Amino acid sequence: MLIKRRRGWEIPESEATPESLFRDRRRIVKAFAAGPILLAGAKALGALDFAAMAQETDPSAKLYPAAPNMKYKVKLPLTPEKDVTTYNNFYEYGSHKQISSAAQQLQIRPWTVKIDGMIEKPMTVGIDDLLKAMPLEERTYRHRCVEAWSMKVPWTGFPLKSLVDYAKPLGSAKYLEMKTFVDVKMAPGQRSFWYPWPYTEGLTIEEATNELAFMVIGLYGKPVPKQNGAPLRLAVPWKYGFKSVKSIVSFTFTDKRPKTFWEALQASEYGFWANINPEVSHPRWSQAQETDLGTQEKIPTVLFNGYGEYVADLYKDLKNEKLWA
Ligand code: MTE
Repeated sequence: MLIKRRRGWEIPESEATPESLFRDRRRIVKAFAAGPILLAGAKALGALDFAAMAQETDPSAKLYPAAPNMKYKVKLPLTPEKDVTTYNNFYEYGSHKQISSAAQQLQIRPWTVKIDGMIEKPMTVGIDDLLKAMPLEERTYRHRCVEAWSMKVPWTGFPLKSLVDYAKPLGSAKYLEMKTFVDVKMAPGQRSFWYPWPYTEGLTIEEATNELAFMVIGLYGKPVPKQNGAPLRLAVPWKYGFKSVKSIVSFTFTDKRPKTFWEALQASEYGFWANINPEVSHPRWSQAQETDLGTQEKIPTVLFNGYGEYVADLYKDLKNEKLWA
């Protein structure tokens, strides 16, 4: 896994074509609908504005803009939208970073979410009905990948606690397990049989109801692009990015600690907790510093990614757990 280097064709955001000048967008959206061959042609027209395309094709587009929640302010500058939407980890579409075009195969409607396990009444709900029941807001968070790169993104979404309350878990539930879809036809990466599909993640109920745990449906004031995990993904900014599971189809309340995708693959490298700590190295990456995706500057990494005031207490009685990797 590599750190992004800006390539010759990647112009700085300040010089990128403003959205208002992107006059041919509708034609490109139609090209997407027509399939991968036309997509290659559309790519040749220039850099694609994925978030703008999502805005035109996603039924949740009318929900924007959501009111900003300034409590979780992040020091500027934000990472340019183009970097956030073209440098991605989404193994369902390949194990490299340039999966944004391939991810357009993801079909985000109809999309149902199953909520089950130790709750009062298991249910299956359509994404648009779920969103009607959730309090939407915009929050800017830092995101830190275990590969030692980071970004700052204005996400739109709702607190995961709202979904937990909606589910009405029983007192016996201790964990929340979240899974991505499985469909090899729309996610060719899932043909790689050596990965333990579906992508699975988990949190304790205390983590899931912490005020920082956030369900993302948008970024930069628009529906979240497919490559960033449409239509519903997690953001837990005090943990390494692999915890932020994308394109979620199920939430299961359980009393057993979920076995996560990366833990099942390589438990010695990726644990359940995965809290950010600059002093605990991953076997392949020092975690002392991170490369900011936008500026390419190296900056020191901070314990809990700087969110310790909100989350450190969650772990004070868990000294025997492998909290960091
Ligand atoms: N979710 C799924 N379903 N599949 C993935 O491969 N990659 C994870 C996480 N969620 C991943 C996923 C990793 S390693 C990171 S760093 C973030 O998504 C990347 O999110 P981004 O592409 O929006 O930056």
